[in-house]
Amino acid sequence: MDLDLTPEQRMIRDTARDFATRDVLPHAAGIDRRHEFPREIMAKLGTLGLMGVGVPEAWGGAGMDTVSYVLALEEIARACAATAVIMSVNNSLVCGPILAHGSDAQKRAWLPDLASGRKLGCFALSEPESGSDAGALRTSARRAGDSGFILNGTKNFVTNGPVADVVVLLASTDPAAGSKGISAFIVDARNPGLKFGPPDDKLGIRGAPSAQLFATDAVVSADAMLGVPGSGYKIALGALDAGRIGIAAQALGIARAAFEDATKYALERKTFGQPIARHQAIEFKLADMSTEIDAARLMIWRAAVKKDQGARYTSEAAMAKLLASEVANRVAKEAVQVFGGYGYLTDFPVERHFRDAKITEIYEGTSEIQRMVIARAVLGA
Ligand code: CAA
Repeated sequence: MDLDLTPEQRMIRDTARDFATRDVLPHAAGIDRRHEFPREIMAKLGTLGLMGVGVPEAWGGAGMDTVSYVLALEEIARACAATAVIMSVNNSLVCGPILAHGSDAQKRAWLPDLASGRKLGCFALSEPESGSDAGALRTSARRAGDSGFILNGTKNFVTNGPVADVVVLLASTDPAAGSKGISAFIVDARNPGLKFGPPDDKLGIRGAPSAQLFATDAVVSADAMLGVPGSGYKIALGALDAGRIGIAAQALGIARAAFEDATKYALERKTFGQPIARHQAIEFKLADMSTEIDAARLMIWRAAVKKDQGARYTSEAAMAKLLASEVANRVAKEAVQVFGGYGYLTDFPVERHFRDAKITEIYEGTSEIQRMVIARAVLGA
């Protein structure tokens, strides 16, 4: 499905597809089995411009639009969902807010390295007692005279955390003001007051390391603040709008992987004298999968186009993530069914797609949060 892609958009998709097929897919099972951070792949993605797709060339990025970004991300996720989320977090939740809200000095300090893959970023918002209710976070950033802030608190599920060089971290500079007292900071991950816990042991996306992050009297200078005091919650929610398009594209890639693997298998596997793909029970499953995948892709492209037009796209991003993540789970579940007993074995990638799909309904806002965001837009609340 090409619609009216520009030559540049087709080029980035084809580049990502070739790279994913040749250099990512053959390693995906091993990355999952060994819970291995794909360091070399990430470096190559940086060289290809895929770690800072929307970052202008002046700041070391590829200077391409959001449609290009989702095209590339779908291809990478089709090969390896873990690799795709590492890429998505760096692009949407780290480069995105620095580009949108950073000073020239902050952009100069971080973007060229992040966009080229020389450095990797992570985003620390969730806490042990605040996930969906992100505005209730407790990590504090206490003023230390004029020179800076002292950070204290615990962050949860920080994707890329154990291998990150920089953290976009949300903390309260004014607890009495609630979510309006939250500020955003760009913190060097080597800050002696920061410590990551052991990597989380997860159901899926096992190559994308995540962990708790502990800030204990971590001193940061005043110029580490991103945006103005109290603007952190909006910066985070804005970054998550873009992030949700990215996770939708990741979900789409997982769905496509499950669908393509199931279709190939259904054409090879014979029962009752013919390939199972020729039995209506299987044929209808493949037809439904294909239809839902196309619907998800169209929703993702719509959200990406709206973002590129500079319009508010909160609801479209939420719809795209809601649909694509649920499609990924339905398609992966049906793909396991097409494989029958073999689908339950780790010898075939389809069980990995089934495990990887689940997280797309949870991170960067659960499906329930997406429905809440969409309902607010529908009801004008
Ligand atoms: N962009 C910019 N501003 C926004 C916004 C957006 N998308 N959404 C809301 N705002 C503004 C509002 O206009 C409002 O501004 P005013 O105070 O000036 O009116 C302010 O932000 C607060 O908005 P709400 O009152 O709507 O906020 P809320 O507290 O009721 O909750 C929520 C909103 C939708 C529930 C939000 O908290 C949310 O999205 N929660 C889910 C958190 C989440 O997605 N976490 C993911 C963690 S990161 C992760 O998962 C990464 C990873 O591992 C890969």
